[in-house]
Amino acid sequence: MEKHFKRTTVTSALPYANGPVHIGHLAGVYVPADIYVRYLRLKGEDVLFIGGSDEHGVPITIRAKKEGVTPQDIVDRYHGIIKKSFKEFGISFDVYGRTTSKTHHEVASDFFKKLYDKGEFIERNSEQYYDEEAQQFLADRYITGECPICHSQGAYGDQCESCGSSLNATDLINPKSAISGSVPVMRKTKHWYLPLDKHEAWLRKWILEGHKEWRPNVYGQCKSWLDMGLQPRAVSRDLNWGIPVPVEGAEGKVLYVWFDAPIGYISNTKELLPDSWEKWWKDEDTRLIHFIGKDNIVFHCIVFPAMLKAEGSYILPDNVPSNEFLNLEGDKISTSRNWAVWLHEYLEDFPGKQDVLRYVLTANAPETKDNDFTWKDFQARNNNELVAVFGNFVNRALVLTGKYFDGLVPAITELTDYDKETIKEFANVKQEVERLLNIFKFRDAQKEAMNLARIGNKYLADTEPWKVAKTDMSRVATIMHISMQLVANLAIAFEPFLPFSSQRLREMINMEDFKWSDLGRIDLLADGHKLNKPSLLFEKIEDEEVEKQVQKLLDTKKENEQANYKAPEIRENIEFDDFLKMDIRVGTVLSCEKVPKANKLLQFVIDDGLEKRTIVSGIAKFYKPNELVGKQVCFVANLAPRKLKGIVSEGMILSAEDADGALSVIVSDRKVNPGSEVK
Ligand code: MF3
Ligand code: ZN
Repeated sequence: MEKHFKRTTVTSALPYANGPVHIGHLAGVYVPADIYVRYLRLKGEDVLFIGGSDEHGVPITIRAKKEGVTPQDIVDRYHGIIKKSFKEFGISFDVYGRTTSKTHHEVASDFFKKLYDKGEFIERNSEQYYDEEAQQFLADRYITGECPICHSQGAYGDQCESCGSSLNATDLINPKSAISGSVPVMRKTKHWYLPLDKHEAWLRKWILEGHKEWRPNVYGQCKSWLDMGLQPRAVSRDLNWGIPVPVEGAEGKVLYVWFDAPIGYISNTKELLPDSWEKWWKDEDTRLIHFIGKDNIVFHCIVFPAMLKAEGSYILPDNVPSNEFLNLEGDKISTSRNWAVWLHEYLEDFPGKQDVLRYVLTANAPETKDNDFTWKDFQARNNNELVAVFGNFVNRALVLTGKYFDGLVPAITELTDYDKETIKEFANVKQEVERLLNIFKFRDAQKEAMNLARIGNKYLADTEPWKVAKTDMSRVATIMHISMQLVANLAIAFEPFLPFSSQRLREMINMEDFKWSDLGRIDLLADGHKLNKPSLLFEKIEDEEVEKQVQKLLDTKKENEQANYKAPEIRENIEFDDFLKMDIRVGTVLSCEKVPKANKLLQFVIDDGLEKRTIVSGIAKFYKPNELVGKQVCFVANLAPRKLKGIVSEGMILSAEDADGALSVIVSDRKVNPGSEVK
């Protein structure tokens, strides 16, 4: 039998405060968590939604160093930006805390101390890279060198970004400290480890036997970790940013960020509820749910539960709905490459359209596999679903009721069989949406909720009240009564998904109180209930708007390619005589046209000072034929003629090849006589 819980604690991964948040964060974690929490609240359940920023860890210290500011400056800046973005998108946290808070430092420190006192850690000495000049141990990210696999320079101690291999710092060829540039040395250091191997047996049983209902991607990842065998994991680091390890002999050491961050869920609860936080974490009648992205699975399903179990007084998570990744226009989202749609920028370009993004991200949620966000799909879902289905039905229902009944909900006169069928159909939607939300299938749940609007559109199309109005107003009354009940149902069903639109809709229909259990009812708006003036819920997004966004991404791509551009190696030396063999000239382009059936080729006629010369050049992708007419270009004049697509080409036009392969024709800076030699 299903266990009955008294309350639910919902956490969502604490984002690192070293950059703003983007659509990947929203789609992966915060929108699904928010839908779930809003749904539970509407059902009148006791629920707490915990969020916050993760403000420790090496990347934050690196960023600070790069900008010449303190780590505290960095986290202060981004904590504010992130918190604001979440608020703007309606992510309804009960608390949004931070791991630099005093409460968190105390809670995390005490947690460590308790495990330490209980003998739950083991101590180990190991050798690690040390920077003698900067006098500090080097985190993996602080060491760079040559990748042992692809041999590119600038690989990090934990990963090569060029070939994607994950590395150990000791694998790097010619390692260098990223802090001082000096060559690091090996030095002994002591750390505390959580012996996960000792937890393996109960973890296996708890997850593999007890939680077969977890999403396949989550269950599968856990199984493969467990099958590989668990190893002790270090929970401390040699670093000067973080929570000091609270035991003697640990100077210069802090808690590993992945040890303190999940404890942040607990501290943030305590921050909000200093006197009653414990029941949300320690009562067997509390259900704990972690919303995360797939790179966080091992920490939330294995490491954190082992920490909680070792402590002894905490409950374990009941489910860990983790999403896969959302890609952007076919490429992995990346903060460092600026390949992202940043939430604060989205709102500048699409003010007031939070729900459109929420809708699209849920419709396309990477629940079972990685998914792609494209601006075309964004536009299509807005125009074809939100505008054409949802908005259209609501608008027609409200406008017709306004027109025929003065904005007062008319009373039913008589129900036909078709009316009864329709009513039954939309009463069923509630059960299905609930079933799907209960098992964390948000995209299917939203689709099902959308069916209410589809039912409504079909109902209006089939009953045609605008025609019936000419003969039978009492029939129209019934139709509009049912339609308005459907509109009210939409406002409830969509509150978890599209909270802003649901609120606007409730204002339009003048509906104050509502709860989830009202869904499916056909007496939500009483006879004679007064409606307010309707306005459009959603508006069409034009081609130009999305084209602008696509162009923005193309520009980013170009900038990235140029930033990463490495000029090819200089070729072997040649003698001056070798150079003189080449006859390079300037010629004036007289005409230029496309070569039929060849999409890369342009055919030029050039005045070379002596005669007219034909040259075929593979630059059609980069130039329109008329763009170069009249220009003075450089060409190799003594290249043996070659036939290209049946045309004899007498030379070669010179161009520069850019990072992305684009060609730029070399033209003479001043006007010269055609045929002038280039030397
Ligand atoms: N900051 C981590 C990330 O972005 C997530 C931390 S989740 C927590 O991947 F549980 F540790 F807080
Ligand atoms: Zn590599």
